[in-house]
Amino acid sequence: MELEAEFERVLAADQRVEPRDWMPDGYRRTLVRQIAQHAHSEIIGMQPEGNWISRAPSLRRKAILLAKVQDEAGHGLYLYAAAETLGADRADLTERLITGRQKYSSIFNYPTLTFADVGVIGWLVDGAAICNQVPLCRTSYGPYARAMIRVCKEESFHQRQGYELLATMMAGTDAQRSMVQDAVDRWWWPSLMMFGPPDAESANTERSVAWRIKRNTNDELRQKFVDMTVPQAAKLGVTLPDPELRWNAERGHHDFGTPDWDEFRRVVGGDGPCNAQRVAHRRTAHEEGEWVRAAATAHAAKRAAREAG
Ligand code: ACO
Repeated sequence: MELEAEFERVLAADQRVEPRDWMPDGYRRTLVRQIAQHAHSEIIGMQPEGNWISRAPSLRRKAILLAKVQDEAGHGLYLYAAAETLGADRADLTERLITGRQKYSSIFNYPTLTFADVGVIGWLVDGAAICNQVPLCRTSYGPYARAMIRVCKEESFHQRQGYELLATMMAGTDAQRSMVQDAVDRWWWPSLMMFGPPDAESANTERSVAWRIKRNTNDELRQKFVDMTVPQAAKLGVTLPDPELRWNAERGHHDFGTPDWDEFRRVVGGDGPCNAQRVAHRRTAHEEGEWVRAAATAHAAKRAAREAG
């Protein structure tokens, strides 16, 4: 079929598929699934750090954190808009999120117990997000690739602010240093899980790589993240909680231990430390925003009527 041949040609030439182009149903479905999950992650991801805005230790830290959390909201909105170009309906996506029918990243189901967690989220969680998202700037679907360029620029700022926050704490008191180490101990393994299940168990990778939606496999990106993070940890003066972590000169990469994949499956399945709280909070915010949506819809209808008349 001519349309299908054109689609394959665009992929083979590493060009972008655009909203009006013909695409296989499976390609569209996979993109909507991934982009929606990605958008939901940004939106739910505001909660763990949002908890600390009112308790940030200085005006400067509060301003930085506020800006960062607002960025996450913006990323979510870009991504919902990208999903809409594929025919998805934003209200429907939100409904799927708050009724637990669509996933969001496992990482946001862990609690933020101290202010050091804010730094560690910036350093490790946003660091992992960058590793995962920089290749997505070259994903085959145009609107998603373009959204990722801006998102990655902002994520780099987020990662830097986390690292700088931790460096400041590490230059502080013993109590601050142990707070940082405790946060690293709690977030290290969940950060590795962000990349998804091992390749052998990843249902979607092979198809998504062939469609050039994903440019790397989950294990490739996890390895890249470990290699990138080990020297940063050394510079900060923290220990990564993995006794198997060591440089392998033959492979030219670090060897590392196996994440607890049972824990990952539990968290993705809805049974993590904060899943219920995160979804309930999102549902309440959505319900409390009903009057805003109603007012905006009424305003748009009045304007359309005025323009028509
Ligand atoms: N948390 C929750 N669910 C996950 C996670 C995770 N960390 N990793 C994988 N899954 C889900 C997948 O969505 C898939 O579910 P589904 O088939 O029911 O939809 C299932 O587990 C199997 O995994 P894969 O087959 O490996 O799924 P996929 O090919 O989609 O790869 C990945 C997962 C790497 C997360 C990919 O979707 C991706 O790159 N997404 C874009 C980036 C993103 O969403 N980042 C969110 C966190 S970063 C941030 O918001 C700051």
